[in-house]
Amino acid sequence: MKESTFKKVEELATALREMSGQEPKVGLVLGSGLGAFADQLDAPVSKEYGELPHMPVSAVPGHSGRMVRGCSGGVPLIVMQGRVHAYEGWSLDDVVLGVRAFCRLGIGALIVTNAGGGIHVDLRPGDFMRITDHLNLTGDSPLRGPNDDRLGPRFPDMSSAYDRELGEHLEMVASRCGQSLRRGVYAYMPGPSYETPAEIRMLRVLGADAVGMSTVPEVIAARHMGVRCVGISVITNLAAGISPSDLSHSEVKETATRVEGTFIKLLQRFIATLER
Ligand code: HPA
Repeated sequence: MKESTFKKVEELATALREMSGQEPKVGLVLGSGLGAFADQLDAPVSKEYGELPHMPVSAVPGHSGRMVRGCSGGVPLIVMQGRVHAYEGWSLDDVVLGVRAFCRLGIGALIVTNAGGGIHVDLRPGDFMRITDHLNLTGDSPLRGPNDDRLGPRFPDMSSAYDRELGEHLEMVASRCGQSLRRGVYAYMPGPSYETPAEIRMLRVLGADAVGMSTVPEVIAARHMGVRCVGISVITNLAAGISPSDLSHSEVKETATRVEGTFIKLLQRFIATLER
């Protein structure tokens, strides 16, 4: 890791600390089409990525880029409304900068959300899936390069990349409010093209239940810094070759919009039960 990475993380963390509000206990990254959660926070304060030091500014339609601080169910949060993707050409250091700054602020848990394609036969568009583990199929990691011991160890453990206790808690909250929640392994592919049917068959053999182009770098960076992670995929489409039709970003956005209300409710209920 370059010296400049640590400096960037610190400068961003300082700028986020200076936004008013209670000290955030939970960090949240909102995926494609799932940004609406941040619009209903109590006492929100926000800053566009472009107004913050070193934050990359996304050019993807539907990925508004803002940091929002506020409360949900009495729990102070910090939210990335719109994430940064490696396929846009950013380095993984840039992709995870926001999450690293969140971890420096002292959050106790990171919630990562994404839109994904369903591979497992039981998954349908509109389903929610608790991520229990991941496959990093990109060959890249935000930890590539010299390690910065101020952030974490050289060889961080990934046995519990997705915290079991928090994940089971999420399942309990979902079942209490009658929200079905699947469970599965998320495969991280580089994109930006969607997968081929042959790639999806390969991913299924490898044990993947859903596929997407995000989340894994952030989880690796947060685990490096010792922060517990919970992941939720919103299944927006059947993966290539399973779907009878071609895949499109508009289908992804349409499904995300359709389930937005229930997604927000699940997140609200879950967050409200976390430690303040
Ligand atoms: N593949 C990769 N990324 C995705 C998909 C998909 O099918 N759906 C939403 N994001």
